[in-house]
Amino acid sequence: MTSEAQKMIELNQLAAKLYHYLLMETEEGYKALQYLKERGMTEASMTEFQIGFAPNHHATVSSFLEKRGADLELAVQAGLLTEREDGSVVDRFRSRIMFPITDDRGQLVGFSGRLIDQENGPKYLNTPETPLFNKRRLLYHFSEGRTEIRKREEVLLLEGFMDVISAADAGLVNGIASMGTSLTEEHIGLVRRIANRAVISYDGDRAGIEAAYKAGLLLEEKSRMEIFVLALPGGKDPDEFIKEYGAERFLEVYLHERMTWTAYKLFYLRKKRNLQNDSERLQYMDEALTEIGKLSQAVERELYLKQLADEFEISIPALKEQLQQKIVEQKGSSKRVSAEDDFLLDLAPPPDDFYGGLVSAQPVRQTLQAYHASEYLLMKAMIGSEEAFSAIHQLLDGLTFQHDEFQALYTHLMAYYLDGNGADPNRFMDYLTDPALKNLVSELVMLETPEEATSDEYLDYINSLKKTNFIRPY
Ligand code: CTP
Ligand code: MN
Repeated sequence: MTSEAQKMIELNQLAAKLYHYLLMETEEGYKALQYLKERGMTEASMTEFQIGFAPNHHATVSSFLEKRGADLELAVQAGLLTEREDGSVVDRFRSRIMFPITDDRGQLVGFSGRLIDQENGPKYLNTPETPLFNKRRLLYHFSEGRTEIRKREEVLLLEGFMDVISAADAGLVNGIASMGTSLTEEHIGLVRRIANRAVISYDGDRAGIEAAYKAGLLLEEKSRMEIFVLALPGGKDPDEFIKEYGAERFLEVYLHERMTWTAYKLFYLRKKRNLQNDSERLQYMDEALTEIGKLSQAVERELYLKQLADEFEISIPALKEQLQQKIVEQKGSSKRVSAEDDFLLDLAPPPDDFYGGLVSAQPVRQTLQAYHASEYLLMKAMIGSEEAFSAIHQLLDGLTFQHDEFQALYTHLMAYYLDGNGADPNRFMDYLTDPALKNLVSELVMLETPEEATSDEYLDYINSLKKTNFIRPY
């Protein structure tokens, strides 16, 4: 860090001490102190978060710094003072409750100041954007909450300063807030290294619901964190919720009533539709099935299918059939891409995968979904019928499966049929000795596939395999 940056941080520290003192100990700060106490903030929290007050005067900080011989030009750069046209400098923050803001290394890089009453000006005024103060990268309470986030392996994502402080007071010290901006990739980069789970608790109003959805989508895309959302009733933010229902109730919601990310997406998609209308209801169900299809665990898929079935009084088999169609459509669309596209896809992150449970059992995760699907579908068909085995064996014409497990299974299956056994998955499992292979067979058996595929379809699957094999760089 440059020495200038270091000096600006020191100026901020001086100012923070002054603001805090003015809030806690002086006549000027009394009204602000009362306001915070009325809102339920304890003095312990004020000290812990170094909350302060900037009086309604243009020269509180500037004369304080001047007396100490500080470089006022640097204080302007740090955003503590603003320069007037005539060259004189005045305090930037006036008549505001001050929240000091640290960066991810715990350095005091700026402030946000909140008006106490509805006076003129924006509710929150921040330090201007500088190389030190960049809202895309800053998360309120990140460096202070880091230890607890690591310990819980879980981060609580909030929208506001007051939410962070109330949550901490309620016992959740792993709360952080992106200050008035939506969650960015940079923010996610900071948290995903220290947490496995993200719990989003934004305002319960329309804007908060939208923001939570957007944040969740970005987290889904940019991290491997498990995502949850707290749905707070009546448009409340966490701070208001805690004030109204108490810390215990908030903890209960946090610990036991958090929504899974899929449940939240279904809730969000449902809210967008008028479910009284048949066509919108069908659209909702289609979108819901798309989300359910992305789940890797069969039990999870089953859970949401059941909810959907109950809600719309539709049979589970009917929903499963439609889910199945989606899987086939997905496979169809990946068959249409050219070999070059396949190669590019191969390098891209794994696509949403209907066969995720099985894929995760594989050592190679980055292969094409079409490739997996074809491999699984062929293997399942061969286990299910001896005719299918013969047909596919001929069509394969010496082509080997890319995954060793599949090649091993194929070889064992050939031996099994040659030994005179008829098609019978359970018997085949008994025939196998390797537990991993047994497991693979049982997963394949549980996999939902279209009834009886035709010889043409087998050929399609095999072509898809050949294409992938052909373009693989080794
Ligand atoms: N924010 C901001 N500028 C504004 C309004 C909001 O930077 N003009 C940021 C602040 O970081 C604020 C967060 O967005 O904490 C959430 O805004 P809001 O919900 O309006 O404020 P609260 O934190 O709920 O504050 P309060 O409860 O005091 O109204
Ligand atoms: Mn609030």
